[in-house]
This record gives sequence, C-alpha cells and structure tokens, in this order.
Amino acid sequence: MSEDKRLIQLALESRDKAYAPYSEFPVGAALLTEEGETYTGVNVENGVNDLSICAERVALFKAISEGERKFTKLAVVCEGEYCQPCGACRQTLFEHAPNLTVLMGNLKEEYRTVQLAELLPEAFQLE
Ligand code: THU
Repeated sequence: MSEDKRLIQLALESRDKAYAPYSEFPVGAALLTEEGETYTGVNVENGVNDLSICAERVALFKAISEGERKFTKLAVVCEGEYCQPCGACRQTLFEHAPNLTVLMGNLKEEYRTVQLAELLPEAFQLE
C-alpha cells in the first residue's frame, strides 16, 4: 500500500474517535513526520463552541508535544467531496511545516494532493 493511502486510512480510522456531538461532523487526520512516525487527530468539540478544536491541530499538537518538529505530509478526511483544512489549521500548520503536502480525502478513500503553500498563499510569518 502506498504511503498516501496508508495515511488516508489512518485518518479514516481515527475519524471514528472524533468527539463531535454538536456539529455531528467528525473529522480525522494523520500527520507524517520526516522520520516516518504518524500522529492521528480528531476534532474535539465543546459546549462552549469557541473551545472546539479541529482534527488537524490535534494531530499537530500531539506530535509537537512528543518532541516532533519536522513534518512532511498530512491526511485529513471528512464527509463531502474533499476535506479542506480550515484557515486556522492552515496557518497553524504553516508555522511548523511550510512545505507540507496535504491529502484532502473523503469517506471513499479518494483524495486530492495539494501543497500547504497553495492553500495559504502569502502566509503570515514573524520576521
Ligand atoms: N473541522 C475540523 O476538524 N477540521 C477542519 O479543517 C474543518 C472543520 C471540525 C471543526 C468542527 O468540530 C466540525 O469540523 C464542524 O465545523
């Protein structure tokens, strides 16, 4: 199985663990490090809506908190044609992985491959 398909499958498996009782829109993500480790994430919602967090950032924060710093690829899956990371996730990911490849997947294991830089042109960067 290709690395991309494996990442999409991991994202799909993790999606089952999403905590999304308010939106009923579960999302799963899988982030690949340069060393070949993977960290999964799901959206975790809260009754105080502003406190909810997306699957992509959960995967990233899990990895960062384990000491990981270099990332090559992220798969994200949800219902719909292809799962597009929100703006907050794009900016957060950009800080750590400006050259990240993003696999935007759906529930049929189809995906589109894009570069994070294409999703967030002229990203904010502290000088
Ligand atoms: N969501 C994600 O987990 N990732 C995204 O990139 C977009 C949206 C979640 C947030 C919320 O829990 C649900 O999807 C509906 O917006």
